[in-house]
Amino acid sequence: MSRFPHAIGRRSFLAASAAAVAIGPGCAGADTPPPGLATRPGLGAIAASKNILFGACSRGLIPENGPFRVGNDAAYSALFQHECRMLTTEYEVKMPNTRPRPDTWDFDAADMLLDYATKSGMAFRGHCLLWSSVMPKWFAQEVDAGNAEAFITDHIHKVAGRYAGRVISWDVVNEAITDGDEAAEDGLRRGPLYDLMGPRYLDIAFKAAHEADPKSLLCLNQDAVEYDVDSQDYRREKTLGQLRRLLDAKVPIHALGIQSHLEPGWLKFTPEVLSKFLDDVAALGLKVFITELDVVDRRLPADIPARDQGAAAAVQEFLAVVLPHPAVAMINSWGLSDRYNWIEDSGMRRKDGRRSRAQLFDDDLAPKPVYQAVVDALNAAPARSAPLTLLP
Ligand code: XIL
Repeated sequence: MSRFPHAIGRRSFLAASAAAVAIGPGCAGADTPPPGLATRPGLGAIAASKNILFGACSRGLIPENGPFRVGNDAAYSALFQHECRMLTTEYEVKMPNTRPRPDTWDFDAADMLLDYATKSGMAFRGHCLLWSSVMPKWFAQEVDAGNAEAFITDHIHKVAGRYAGRVISWDVVNEAITDGDEAAEDGLRRGPLYDLMGPRYLDIAFKAAHEADPKSLLCLNQDAVEYDVDSQDYRREKTLGQLRRLLDAKVPIHALGIQSHLEPGWLKFTPEVLSKFLDDVAALGLKVFITELDVVDRRLPADIPARDQGAAAAVQEFLAVVLPHPAVAMINSWGLSDRYNWIEDSGMRRKDGRRSRAQLFDDDLAPKPVYQAVVDALNAAPARSAPLTLLP
């Protein structure tokens, strides 16, 4: 039994299925343009006026499995281009995708996303080089304590090296820190990487990423550190401990990613707790990226107006803490429209069978109240002194 009840939920969260979501029942299709584009500047533009980078993730080409979202759905693509100044790989560069077998590489989907981002004038963000919860099945047979360091160094050199100079930021390690039974004493998640290399796997991964792409801002991307509950207190403390350890060891790391899958109706949010954490991270000289913003609406009412108001309120209270903080340089939404909503394929979907409304836009690509909450928070945010750029 886990020390923290929340840890149970995270496990099903991590088991999120790889299946693509079909366009929602009864919603407008790819030929119907998104409503209202001409009447609003778009989040990317509003954020850019404050030197904040705003974008979202999208899936790439998955021929056997679903659409190349931004590329195949013209209406969705128009919305994406209007709202986003950055595109993040949702799925494509995770190890099981780039490397279906130990010696077989597949970069087609990631290449298409990079091509799309470049043609659209968007920054490109890489998620993620290592994630011990999402590893290829063959890993355990191929990699042991004797070859682990060389293996992951080589893996990262190949993936990050392929896109060198074109990735504003890499999530080098995803969800490294956990709580409960899955956590070692230092808070690091036990798993194939930790078990073979101990905490050094973080040092090795960041070093390799910096060697392969010296211009990219390297990020430790962490989940479940936003709320005022014991499990997340523990994670915040252990995250700060790892960041200090890495910086003391002169490991190249530039940012902490805070995933921000918000969970209204369940976990306690205390502005001062999050604010203190942001201060502590910034005091280490690191930037903070909001990397996976969305609203897990499984504990909000079924009634759609009430649910949408609940989602907007959660984002509003969260961004009211986050956006005034000068270290926060980027917001990445984990999806854009409920039309393609990863939560539907995960253990975090609603128990009543109603479709999740996690995203800023509905199935028909119309903005929801949560969109206005982001607009208002960006408009109220102080301008940063400079935009986010690649390292010199
Ligand atoms: C999810 C993707 O959105 C899905 O398309 C995929 O099937 C599973 O992974 N935290 C993360 C992301 O760091 O990588 C996850 O993305 C969502 C939770």
